[in-house]
This record gives sequence, C-alpha cells and structure tokens, in this order.
Amino acid sequence: MNNDKLIIQTPAPADIIDLGMGNPDFNLLPDEIFRLASEKAFKKGINASLQYGTEQGNGYFRATLADFLTHSFREQVDPASLFISTGSSAGLNLLTALYTQAGDTVFVEEPTYFLALKIFADHGLNIISIPIDDKGLNLDILEEKLQQYSPKLLYTIPTFQNPSGKTLSLAQREKLVELAEKHDFLIIADEVYHLLDLTGLKPPKPFALFAKDSAQIASLNSFSKILAPGLRLGWIEAHPKVLKKLTSTGLLDSGGGMNPFTSSIVHELVESGDLEKNIALLRRTYQSRLIIMDKALKEMLPIAEYILPRGGFFFWGRIPGQNTSKLRKRAKDFKVDFRQGALFSANQGMTEYMRLCFAFYGEDEIIEGVRRLSRCIFKT
Ligand SMILES: Cc1ncc(COP(=O)(O)O)c(C=O)c1O
Repeated sequence: MNNDKLIIQTPAPADIIDLGMGNPDFNLLPDEIFRLASEKAFKKGINASLQYGTEQGNGYFRATLADFLTHSFREQVDPASLFISTGSSAGLNLLTALYTQAGDTVFVEEPTYFLALKIFADHGLNIISIPIDDKGLNLDILEEKLQQYSPKLLYTIPTFQNPSGKTLSLAQREKLVELAEKHDFLIIADEVYHLLDLTGLKPPKPFALFAKDSAQIASLNSFSKILAPGLRLGWIEAHPKVLKKLTSTGLLDSGGGMNPFTSSIVHELVESGDLEKNIALLRRTYQSRLIIMDKALKEMLPIAEYILPRGGFFFWGRIPGQNTSKLRKRAKDFKVDFRQGALFSANQGMTEYMRLCFAFYGEDEIIEGVRRLSRCIFKT
C-alpha cells in the first residue's frame, strides 16, 4: 500500500482506523488485471485512442460495456444509450451544468452523498432535501414539496444508498418516474452501488433501464467501486434527448470524448470477463466484512440503531443522545474515525448519525475499529 500524500487524495493515517473512509481497500485494487488488459490493448494497437475521442465515447467500448450491462441487468442495454464519462462525479457535474442555472432549485435525499452537495453548491443552487425512510426516498413528502417548488432536478442514490444503505422499491421507482414526467424535472440516479449486492437480494431494476422510455432520467455509473477509482472512468445511460445535450457541450467540442485511452484498456478487461470475476471477488470479500461489522457493532456498540445494509459500502447508525460531530473530535484520541451524520445533510440535520464503511479495511481492523469507537463513546 502506498500512502503517499503526493499521489492519494485521502491517505489513511497509519495509526488511525478511519471507518469513515469510502474508498475501496488498496489490497482489492486489481493491478494484475490492468497489466494483462494493457498488454492486450497495446498488442492490438492503441494509437487511435491516443487521439481526441468521439464525443459519446469509444463505440467499440460502448458495445462491450452494453453486453456486460445486458448480462448484469438481465435486460437489453443498447450501446447507443451509453455515454462514457470520467466517473459519476464528473457526470453529475456535467448534467448539473447543462440542466441548471445559479439560483435554481434542486432536490436531494436527506441524508445524501455529501460530495454531491458540494457539486450543487459549486453551481450556486438552492438545495431542498426530501427525507429517506425505510423504503428509500419518501414520495409523499416529495409530492408535498412539488407543490411548493419547481426543481430542475432530483438527485437520488436509489440502491444501497450512500450513506443510509436503503433501496427504493420497483413500485416507488415507477411512481418517481411518473412524478418527474408530470412536474418536468430530471431524475439523476447515481447507481454506483447497483452491482454490489452483498446478501443475495437483487435490487429492483436500475433507473438506467427506465431511461430509454423517458427523457426525464439520467443514470450515472462508474468503475470506481467495481474496479478502481484512479481510472476516472464511468458512464451515463440516458434517453437520446439527454445524450444529445451531453454530446453537444462546449466541453466535448473542445476536449473530445472522455478518457479514450483508459476506455481502450478497460475495454479489454470487460471483454475478457475479468471485470465480472473482479465483481464476484468484491462481493465475497465485502459480504464477510459486512457480517463482521454487524457482529462487532452488536457486541461492542449495542446502543447503535441501524438497519442491516444489503449491499454497497456503508452502515448508517444512530447513536441516541450523541452529537456525532462532537464525538468525532474525541475519536482522534481513541485512534479511530468515522463520518458524522451532519455531513450528509443539506440542513445540518442527522446530528446523531454516523457513517461507517466496511469496504476499506480487512476484518481484524474492522473489529479493532469498532472496539475503539465503543471505547470512545462509552469513555472507557
Ligand atoms: C453515491 C456516490 N456517487 C459518486 C461517488 C464517486 O464516484 P466517481 O469516483 O465515479 O466519481 C461515490 C463515491 O464515494 C458515491 O458514493
């Protein structure tokens, strides 16, 4: 593992177990798969992918990706519905730039992925949050808010949500699409955890599969959680009208399609089946880590209230009576860290919640991290 601050965005401090980290484990970044894929790509000839790329993304890569998605989603995915991005964050930023202007209103979930809040703040948007309940986004409250506001877009993480782990049911997904059609807002569905079901429960069909019939949907996805974040590669699945908007931006006029070189390498490992094998390995590994964290929490932190996540990366727990922002300051003394609930709220709410990640550390460190957290909370 290389913890060099000159290379890595958030190096994990050596003496602290940071259960807040939302990154994949260094040991699960598949170097060898990339070496093999690169060799194949160079053997075939990489020259064209060193040129400015076609706006929508390399067509051969999109065809291979569409095959992979067709198999994974068990429903036909058309290569023409895919747009290659430099990851989910970049896709979100681009769509936000295209669909909003400063001062517009956007809807987010409460809680939501905190860095999406930052992207919306960059664009000067008015952020309104809609609570999540046990079934995911609360559509009754959404309908009430739609009487008051006309949002340009709604940002949702419908499956194994970051941070809450919740998943929206199929019926609720269908209803949400109806509401988007009726009130004319874009649903940006961030589906980066969709393929990381960990407990045998397959999630309902992704918004990606609704997109061919509705210009009110854009599904964001990424290789960050299923391969490696350093690739900066992902995709958007959307209706031709949305794709047209995306491919005619000034950004692509000037810079060409996104990440053609990396696409040509990743193409090889999707085609060879190595991506699928990697996802199977991640599922097995994360599943045992999820079980270990659940057991550790039950044994050492029984006051934590949470619903067992069925996939993704995170536990979202309420610690009754604790302000987790204050707790986090004390946590450093106990050589442990987490992310406080308020980070994931557009209105400084969620103060008794914390997000814990089971993906970054191995099993022993997860147990030790929960032990330290328990000592910190119970001051022992
Ligand atoms: C919901 C969600 N969206 C986006 C991202 C970042 O994705 P990318 O690396 O593709 O930009 C993350 C990573 O933590 C995430 O949890």
